[in-house]
Amino acid sequence: MKKQAIEKIRQLYRQQELTKESYQELFEQWSYMEAEARQELSKELFALARRRQQQVFGKQVYLRGLIEFTNHCRNNCYYCGIRAGNRKLERYRLSKEQILNCCQEGYQLGFRTFVLQGGEDRCFTSDDICDIVREIKKRYPDCAVTLSIGEWERDSYERFFQAGADRYLLRHETANAIHYEVLHPPELSWKHRQECLRQLKEIGYQVGAGFMVGSPGQTYENLAEDMQFLLELQPHMIGIGPFISHKDTPFADQKNGSVELTLFLIGILRLTFPKVLLPATTALGTLAADGREQGILAGANVLMPNLSPVAVRKQYSLYDNKICTGEESAQCIHCVQNRIRGIDYEVVTDRGDYPGFVRH
Ligand code: 5AD
Ligand code: FES
Repeated sequence: MKKQAIEKIRQLYRQQELTKESYQELFEQWSYMEAEARQELSKELFALARRRQQQVFGKQVYLRGLIEFTNHCRNNCYYCGIRAGNRKLERYRLSKEQILNCCQEGYQLGFRTFVLQGGEDRCFTSDDICDIVREIKKRYPDCAVTLSIGEWERDSYERFFQAGADRYLLRHETANAIHYEVLHPPELSWKHRQECLRQLKEIGYQVGAGFMVGSPGQTYENLAEDMQFLLELQPHMIGIGPFISHKDTPFADQKNGSVELTLFLIGILRLTFPKVLLPATTALGTLAADGREQGILAGANVLMPNLSPVAVRKQYSLYDNKICTGEESAQCIHCVQNRIRGIDYEVVTDRGDYPGFVRH
C-alpha cells in the first residue's frame, strides 16, 4: 500500500494533477496505514513539496497582517464561534480610525499586505468598505489589500475592486453540496458560495478558496472533490486548517480535525498548485505548538499574524483556544520571525502577489 501511495505522490509531482479517484485512493491509503508507514510517506511527500516550493519561492515566507475588524455576523454556520446565534459572545466593531491605526502599526513592522477579515456584518455597508479600502490604498500605495468578508452581491464585489482591493478570501468550505448542508443552515447555499467565487475571479481579484480539514461529516471522497474543485477554479491562494470545535456552537461536541492530515494535504496542495499562496494557518498553530512551522515544512509559504488590537482578539473566537490572543502576543511578527528563522526560512517584506499576476 505504501509503495502505491508513494508512486501516486511521485506521479503528482511530475504531472501536478491526479484524477478525483486517484486523490481519494491516496487519502484512503494514507488513512489505513500504520502510523510509522504514514510518517514515512509524509516525509517523502514533504520533501517533494519543499522542492517545488523552493523552485518557485526560494525559502521566502510571505506575511499578511490580519485585521479582524468585526465579530458581528448575520450567519449561523454550525462550526463557527462568531455565528449570530451565539449569544454568549461579546461583540465588537473597529472604527475606520482603529483599522487605519492597525495598518500604520503593521506598515512600520514591515507588513505590505493587510487582510480585512470580519463576519458578515451589514453595519458596514459596501460604501463603508470602499471607503476604508480607498483610504488604506491612499496611505499605503505599495501595499495590497485583501478582503475576507464573506458573500456579497456582484455589484459590491466590483465596487470593492474599483476602490482598490486586490485580493479576496472566501473559503469554499466544502465542494460537496450535501456536505455543505451538514455544515450550514438552509439559508446558506452551496450554489451561491460557488457563484461568489467565480464572480470574484471574473472581476479580477487574486482569489483565495479553501476548506476545513476534518469538519463534521467530511469523507475522503469530499476531500478529493475539494481537490477537483480547486483544479477547476484555479485560485491564487488556498487556506486550509483543521476544524476545531467551539463550545458555544452546535458542533461543540464534535471532534477536532487532525494536524497530521492537514499537513499531508498542504503537501498535496503544493504539488498540485506549485505557484499557489498557501498559508500555515492559525488553526494549525492552535492544535500543535509548532503547527505553523510544520506547515511551512510541508509546503506552505504564507503566515498571517494577527494585527488586531489585543483588547479585542479574544472576541474573534472562531474556535476554542485560539493562539495569539493574550497580552504576550502584542507583536506576532517578532514571534513569527523567530519561528521561521528557526526552521531556516526567511520572512520577507513584500506584497507577495501570485507569481506573474497582473491586475487589469
Ligand atoms: N474551526 C476551524 N476553522 C474554522 N473556521 C470557522 N470556524 C472554524 C472552526 N470552528 C474557518 C472557516 C472560515 C475561516 C475564516 O475560518 O473555514 O472560512
Ligand atoms: Fe502571535 Fe506567535 S504569532 S504570538
